[in-house]
Amino acid sequence: MTRIILIGYMGAGKTTVGKALAQDLQLPFYDLDWYIEERFRHTIPQIFAEKGEDGFRRVEQNVLHEVAEFEDVVISCGGGTPCFFDNMDYMNRQAMTVYLKASPDVLFQHLKMGKTERPLLKGKTDEELKAYIQASLATREPFYSRARYTLDVSLLDDYKKIQDAVRLLRELLNL
Ligand code: S3P
Repeated sequence: MTRIILIGYMGAGKTTVGKALAQDLQLPFYDLDWYIEERFRHTIPQIFAEKGEDGFRRVEQNVLHEVAEFEDVVISCGGGTPCFFDNMDYMNRQAMTVYLKASPDVLFQHLKMGKTERPLLKGKTDEELKAYIQASLATREPFYSRARYTLDVSLLDDYKKIQDAVRLLRELLNL
């Protein structure tokens, strides 16, 4: 049975790489945020607005416990998922967890384009965004680094780079 969970900061490429890896392994792919949005018929920003971040984290944990029971799947989770409750322990019990590790600079390059889609980044100037990434990555890193595997990634902005990441992941996971 193959169950892989990709974790890492917003903008590291969890969804992009997860989708490509699943395709390569011919496994179904689940993105936790998309799953939440389908299940609740609300977008992530709407859930944050209605339930607050605490409410979102409870929803996220419930859905994680559902999706991480599926067999033979690739799952990408939200940037915050590993950092709340005992989610990281749970994921390590359930799956091959991989931390997609990107530098603050790479994350900034990626995130400055899509700030409005992410409630935690909305309304920040470039300078504020940079500072926020630095600070929150520092607090999140101890959780992320508990993944069973780590893959260093750079800006995944073309097809070849994504396929290279998939190849490296398969080597790392022996798949
Ligand atoms: C979050 C990351 C988002 C989403 C939510 C909160 C976070 O997912 O779950 O906006 O706390 O880092 P992505 O990492 O897919 O952007």
